[in-house]
Amino acid sequence: MQHIFQKGTDETKPTLLLLHGTGGNEQDLLPIGGMIDPTASILSVRGNILEHGMPRFFRRLAEGVFDEEDLVFRTKELYEFLNEASEKYGFDRNHIVAVGYSNGANIAGSLLFHYQDALKGAILHHPMVPRRGIELPTLNGVHVFITAGENDPLCTPQESKDLKTFLENAGANTSIHWEYNGHQLTRTEVEEAAEWYKKVF
Ligand code: MLT
Repeated sequence: MQHIFQKGTDETKPTLLLLHGTGGNEQDLLPIGGMIDPTASILSVRGNILEHGMPRFFRRLAEGVFDEEDLVFRTKELYEFLNEASEKYGFDRNHIVAVGYSNGANIAGSLLFHYQDALKGAILHHPMVPRRGIELPTLNGVHVFITAGENDPLCTPQESKDLKTFLENAGANTSIHWEYNGHQLTRTEVEEAAEWYKKVF
């Protein structure tokens, strides 16, 4: 997968896996990675799907309606890419924290929904429930921070609440930060995520 890897200055820190929103690319979240942890290694990935020229991490049938078969395929593809990248760049495969926005948060959520050992933690900005009606792996020891907008028309408050419940029921330590905003990613929610990350990692 097309990506950027930047080696951090502190090898005890997790590697931050940056996953952009629809229409973004691997450059987008680099400043946010720097706000979360300027000493951590960064692996920033571009989604392999193009929707009318806009990169995404998996196909959708309509807005908010995911192509589940493609979601499962692309989740495996990203999971395998993480295995390969950790060997190539020599970072700890078992110490990755995803930072995803919107479509990127949804593929990060899908990694958690499908693999027990994909991520050590995740910061999910404006996520949805990636898939319903499946049994999640055991996620004990996984830490998740969700940020959501009370007025987000795309990733509705109920989606965030349901996602928190699913992750908690699987054993993940999960919290939510609410903003009185819509779908945009705000500085304050990134700052909240950075505070949370400092406490947990
Ligand atoms: C998705 O398709 O992942 C969500 O609708 C968010 C987005 O628009 O990217």
